[in-house]
Amino acid sequence: MSRIAYVNGQYVPHNQAAVHIEDRGYQFADGVYEVFAVIRGKLIDPAFHFERLERSLREIKIEVPLSRRSLGLVIVEVLRRNRVRNGILYLQVTRGVAPRDHGFPAVVSPSIVMTARAMALPPDPHKFENGIGVVTVPETRWRRCDIKSIALLPNVLAKQDARDAGAYEAWFVDEDGFVTEGSSTNAWIVDADGNLVTRQTNSSILSGITRRTLLELADKAGVHVIERSFTVDEAKHAREAFISSATSFVLPVVRIDGEPVGKGQPGPVAMQLETLYRRYAV
Ligand code: PDD
Repeated sequence: MSRIAYVNGQYVPHNQAAVHIEDRGYQFADGVYEVFAVIRGKLIDPAFHFERLERSLREIKIEVPLSRRSLGLVIVEVLRRNRVRNGILYLQVTRGVAPRDHGFPAVVSPSIVMTARAMALPPDPHKFENGIGVVTVPETRWRRCDIKSIALLPNVLAKQDARDAGAYEAWFVDEDGFVTEGSSTNAWIVDADGNLVTRQTNSSILSGITRRTLLELADKAGVHVIERSFTVDEAKHAREAFISSATSFVLPVVRIDGEPVGKGQPGPVAMQLETLYRRYAV
């Protein structure tokens, strides 16, 4: 079966789907995106993703091009045409096509692209059982990481550093030695006192939808949560560490820069949250 993409109001074969070379997304990374997890044909937390998309658009002064209802209808159609029951839906909005000039064009309409791809979701439990390694890299991103911008070069380089080191993810570390987040995931630890800790949301990290739902689930389950920064050293000596995202769910971190975290195996809090999230999502 051939894949279908949605491009500016049309459903086109994926291998022919294209935007103009003067699309500002292509030339300036002038756009934002969302990645939705799809399980049994249903989006996970769609309202939160729409809310974040609208916020990202507002922050970069692009008008919301389609209502939530219209976006929802297109998403359902993209999933149907690609026969995706479990996988991801990618949605990107850029400022649109205009002759290259840094300032906003006087007249332009946003470009919207959506693709869907089948993927093993919920993720393979084996990944969970073994845990993953992360490497740390200096924070080189801009100061508005709360915007889900398509300008992902530092994230791309960081992820490749992780892969080159045989790790799964890279954690950005700010000038004061505190972990901000992963290249495409949020970062968590269980500290020496047993508190679940994740960095507070401000412009230094993306407010992850999975993070948000996990905080609620943890709270309901009586897990004590603190939203605060933690250093790499604290994470290395923490009882547990893990990452979260729409596509990773909850993945225990068992090694940081080659050193074991806690006992060097997935811990009970990560396991509990993974179970709660899986039940919530599936
Ligand atoms: N990444 N932090 C960053 C920098 C991210 O890119 C992401 C998501 C997250 C987790 O957010 P959420 O829980 O809403 O997925 C945190 C997506 C999955 C991606 O770029 O593929």
